[in-house]
Amino acid sequence: MTKHALVAALYLLCHLVSVQAGTAPAYLRCEYLADPVGIGTGEPRLSWQLAPGPRGHRQTAYRLIVASDEAILADNEGDLWDTGKVQGRATAQIVYKGVSLKAGQRCHWKIRIWDEKGEASAWSQRAHWSVGLFAVDDWCAEFISFRDVSPVHRSRKELYLPPARHYRKEFRVRAGIRRATLYATALGIQDLYLNGKRVSDRYFAPGWSDYRKRAYYHSYDVTGLLGHGDNAVGAVVADGWYAGYVGYGVLVGYGPYRSGRCFYGKTPAFMAQLELEYGDGTHQTITTDTSWKVTGDGPLREADIQGGETYDARKEMPGWSTAGFDDTHWEVAIPAADNPSTVVPYSDRGGTHLIQLGFVKPAILQAYPAPPIAITQELAARRVTEVKPGVHIFDLGENFAGVVRLKTKGPAGAKVTLRYGEMLHPDGRLMTENLRRARAIDQYILKGDPKGEQWTPRFTYHGFQFVEITGLPHKPSLDTVTGLVLHNDTPMTSQFECSDPVINQLFKNITRTQRANFVEVPTDCPQRDERLGWMGDAQIYVRSATINADVASFFTKWLDDVEEAQRSFGAYPDYAPYPMQHGGSGKSFGTAWMDAGIICPWNIWRVYGDKRIIEHHYESMVRFMEFRRAVSPKFGGISLGNPWGDWLNVNDPTPVEYIDACYFAWTSQLMAEMAAAIGKESDAAFYRDVFQRIKSAFARDYVSKEGALSVKSQTAHVLALAFNLLTEEQKTIAAETLADQISRNGYRMATGFLGTKELLPVLSANGYHDLAVRLFQSRKLPSWGHEVVNGATSIWERWDSYTKEDGFGRHNAAMNSFSHYAFGAVCEWMFRTLAGIDTADVGYSHVLLRPMPPSLKSNPDNTPIHWVKASYDSINGRIKSAWRLEKSVFRYDITVPPNTTASVFLPTASIEAVTESGRPISRRDAVEIRSIEGHPIVLEVGPGSYSFACEFAGVH
Ligand code: BGC
Repeated sequence: MTKHALVAALYLLCHLVSVQAGTAPAYLRCEYLADPVGIGTGEPRLSWQLAPGPRGHRQTAYRLIVASDEAILADNEGDLWDTGKVQGRATAQIVYKGVSLKAGQRCHWKIRIWDEKGEASAWSQRAHWSVGLFAVDDWCAEFISFRDVSPVHRSRKELYLPPARHYRKEFRVRAGIRRATLYATALGIQDLYLNGKRVSDRYFAPGWSDYRKRAYYHSYDVTGLLGHGDNAVGAVVADGWYAGYVGYGVLVGYGPYRSGRCFYGKTPAFMAQLELEYGDGTHQTITTDTSWKVTGDGPLREADIQGGETYDARKEMPGWSTAGFDDTHWEVAIPAADNPSTVVPYSDRGGTHLIQLGFVKPAILQAYPAPPIAITQELAARRVTEVKPGVHIFDLGENFAGVVRLKTKGPAGAKVTLRYGEMLHPDGRLMTENLRRARAIDQYILKGDPKGEQWTPRFTYHGFQFVEITGLPHKPSLDTVTGLVLHNDTPMTSQFECSDPVINQLFKNITRTQRANFVEVPTDCPQRDERLGWMGDAQIYVRSATINADVASFFTKWLDDVEEAQRSFGAYPDYAPYPMQHGGSGKSFGTAWMDAGIICPWNIWRVYGDKRIIEHHYESMVRFMEFRRAVSPKFGGISLGNPWGDWLNVNDPTPVEYIDACYFAWTSQLMAEMAAAIGKESDAAFYRDVFQRIKSAFARDYVSKEGALSVKSQTAHVLALAFNLLTEEQKTIAAETLADQISRNGYRMATGFLGTKELLPVLSANGYHDLAVRLFQSRKLPSWGHEVVNGATSIWERWDSYTKEDGFGRHNAAMNSFSHYAFGAVCEWMFRTLAGIDTADVGYSHVLLRPMPPSLKSNPDNTPIHWVKASYDSINGRIKSAWRLEKSVFRYDITVPPNTTASVFLPTASIEAVTESGRPISRRDAVEIRSIEGHPIVLEVGPGSYSFACEFAGVH
């Protein structure tokens, strides 16, 4: 169980305990993280949740105390901050306003609340956070490296995978150590060790950023790893995103020197600072400098994210990170700046440029704000098949991203080769054509330990279900290979089940594919030579992502990467980070992709009530909107940059200018809302005006006198409806036309990434909910169900990436990912519409529970869904929505989290027959009837669980 999963489990336990102990609040977090070490702000935001209580349970006041020492906190004193009794309901985004915090400071805190009766709760369990090194000046370490005399790799045909480097240093620790904190960053990726123990299980630290401008660092409390006397610290540093293979390299016109690697620099470097605090108040600092030693002659012969790892266990160096190890044959580390830089030509579509490849110290060192990338699950092999003599394929049962644990035994020097694939060819061979230039091969060379050997790669990951193994010196058993699922450990927050088993499998596939692609940035896919933070994919999926996991801090991290990659002329790029910008003139941006720079912050604000994300990116967003306005002087749509259009539509394209007009309109509306949210009223009015102008231009360019759209694609109708570009009358026409197009298309959608995201919401909101459900449950191509009945365990890039009839034959093998979350964006509709869980305001403090069952006779292809059971762990706690149609009776069980309210929409026409827990509604506590006229009937309820029953009258 990972630390995050453990915290979540403890939280549930605390909930149970705290109900009895006077409803102490629980799940205390700082900057969205439980007990973070080394946060990057002096004004962190704190949050907690109320334990479930009786109906109506809410907070009327709180008192929060923050102390510099646990003993002070135990006395209920806050020497750093004591809010006193603060009236109100707020439990999240509470900004620390105490004594100003210095680098490295540790803060202990707890909270108590007063409930609806004015009664005080017990104090919560204590929590803590510590502050990182804020400023570059807080660092006295320097980046060190090894002397690198290798030429810049220039072959397009052969890979170049250099070894990882081991660094080490010994130091003495006096008696009486109180606390030790290790801060570390790298240009590359690193694993840290102290006295022979790995400091952290996290993968790929310090993370991916535009290293020439900014690098992340991590802080670790290592007090428990040090001892009195001689100690040693070590690090293994590999190329990572800094110098290793990134993206698809050669496909987009890179010059001879850019073979897909060295986008930021050529030689990885490393920097660490170990701060020791003694009980007597003295300090000692150990930093990276030229007293460190380094070698490239360790076991990690190759270590590349896309290429894979080669580990020669014969070259292990037992004790290398402990004191007393003989490192006389190691080299002396050099200041990273001492490696000469190289000027290389770099060609792209804009011509050839000269770029400098050498060490550039990042101007900003930033605390990593997201949960760590970690192994969160183990998958036992289901089957092993010998496909050729000595070649075995292991089936891990599902398509995921991660690594394996290999167990083997044999003579020293035996070499085991592991290849990875998402699918098999019909003859049982591994399908690797879709990996393109990602070599994705790991190799393990045995040292010959008679007790057997175990190995897990640390500097690579793959997208796969199948592992092909050659060279095993023994007969394999199922436990020879175990799958290890790896991703940013964002707490998972959704549950969904319904009466259609195909949909239940779809839901699993969606969450699995999300996990496979939330690795450092929201990647398009985890297997091929791409794995980029594609903005179009991210903007259509962001809301679904927030439903399935707590991604607030994950997006906090990535949106910094997005802003950093903003083009000088204001556009956001197609993907972020945007490594190709160094030296390039690339015009890599395009409508609906670049707009993620507005759409993602807007969603994070809506879901988590996070205004800081708006404030933080506001200037950048304004620059983007100015760019948008400058290129569209007549407020119409334009085509510029990369015309991805409605990517992967099914023979039903939509002109890019049209899409652009819709997205320009949408981002203007979102900007207006965000400006208003942070009190910039005149900006809000300005963007509302921009929107009105775009709307008029849209009517001028695309709407006929009769109110019909001139662009006839399904997506054209979807976007106009979704983005509020039509009058009421025009909406009716557009929705009818869309429904007609779909039925004439054999009840099939033809939409691509952009249209599909909004298709079902638009149909449900405009009177065609049964049609939406019919498409949702379809098994015909193209549909989500078609993938499932063709064996999918993940969401595919294309609807027919594989078919039982044609295998992989329908598409270019190279563009055929089986782990692409984009079409999984239907998840948003599953929760917000079908299950009916939504937020009425920001941050789910007023919840909307508006389930939408289909009419029972609606679906000639499949038995219509007649029950749904869903839950969502919002920032205020778990919301449950479970409905069931029993003949004409609609049963609806809900849970509204403490401290929130909800509007409940019952699809019935008469209040008289509505019951709650078997009794007429009028006699229930905590249920207020808001509308008894018309249909649906709307009730207002407070926190608690309720069971409604009523006569089903359809949803419209
Ligand atoms: C990616 C997509 C991405 C697209 C741009 C592809 O190669 O895999 O998901 O959005 O390029 O059209």
